[in-house]
Amino acid sequence: MGQRIWAQTHDVNPKLTHEAGDCEARYEWNWLAQAVPVHCGGEDRKLLIEIMPTTLEVLFAPAEFALLGQRDLRQTVCVVFDVLRATSTMVTALGNGATAIVPTTGIAEALGVRRRRPEVLLAGERDGVRIEGHLTGGIGFDLGNSPREFTAARVGGRTVATTTTNGTRALRACAPAAAVLLGSFLNLRATAEFIEKQEPLHLLLVCSGTLDQAAYEDVLGAGALCDLLWPKYGDGLVADSAQIARRLFLLEQNDLLAAVAQSRNGRRLMARPELREDVAFCVQREVFGFVAELGEDGLVRIRAPAAASAQAGVAGSPVAPAQ
Ligand code: MLT
Repeated sequence: MGQRIWAQTHDVNPKLTHEAGDCEARYEWNWLAQAVPVHCGGEDRKLLIEIMPTTLEVLFAPAEFALLGQRDLRQTVCVVFDVLRATSTMVTALGNGATAIVPTTGIAEALGVRRRRPEVLLAGERDGVRIEGHLTGGIGFDLGNSPREFTAARVGGRTVATTTTNGTRALRACAPAAAVLLGSFLNLRATAEFIEKQEPLHLLLVCSGTLDQAAYEDVLGAGALCDLLWPKYGDGLVADSAQIARRLFLLEQNDLLAAVAQSRNGRRLMARPELREDVAFCVQREVFGFVAELGEDGLVRIRAPAAASAQAGVAGSPVAPAQ
């Protein structure tokens, strides 16, 4: 007869020990482990383990990320998607050598960063375009939110403070989580491989949306990540939102550009000749091989590669820096 215990962990990758009478079992965390062989009272027996299931959930709309303050995120890894364009742009900036990005909650906060650190570049958009002096009391921002502006020549070696309509607010709402990663098609595989190695118990994909609505392109990005991680998370507690996102991605994956171009924000960008190329830029797959993370200090940086993943070329330098 198997003995039933409840194995619960507060660590991402724990080594667990459970003692039961004269039996002692030591075992490593294993996704599939259900029964662990133990030597007990002179007999070989099987200890049946009930492992806390993983969870995978997608939040679609800004109203949902606004409520994150009410959730306990201490064991949750959040991945924030603002495919058009905030997270794509931040990933591109880091890929082109920016030292760090400061995502701020609004124009006033961004201006405050600049007052304290005059060397910081100011970036961001309102209504899709660069923030000009009439919104700030005279200070024009250095950059908008087009990833194509964030070239090595503009941002190499610089810190950039940015405010965008939804993306920067979504990132900040996730700050209490165990880790906050930036999701984009540009570095999706590196992000998926990192998550596979870390094996977080709870994975929450947060779509930034467009104004107060869900955004098609963010759901596609989240769905693409769900698809990559399905072998790991598909057997756990998968929220219907994750099923919806993955199925939408599978439906649209053969022509992501067409799908994203018809989204609300896609149509807005396509209607502006100087911004229309951003849509094609942001649906490129695997341009960068690093993971971007919002640190506890409030800065977004390239996450330092783990030794093994650096060897495999997963994290670290960009594989093909955008120009
Ligand atoms: C946002 O944060 O809402 C977006 O990134 C807006 C955009 O750049 O068009």
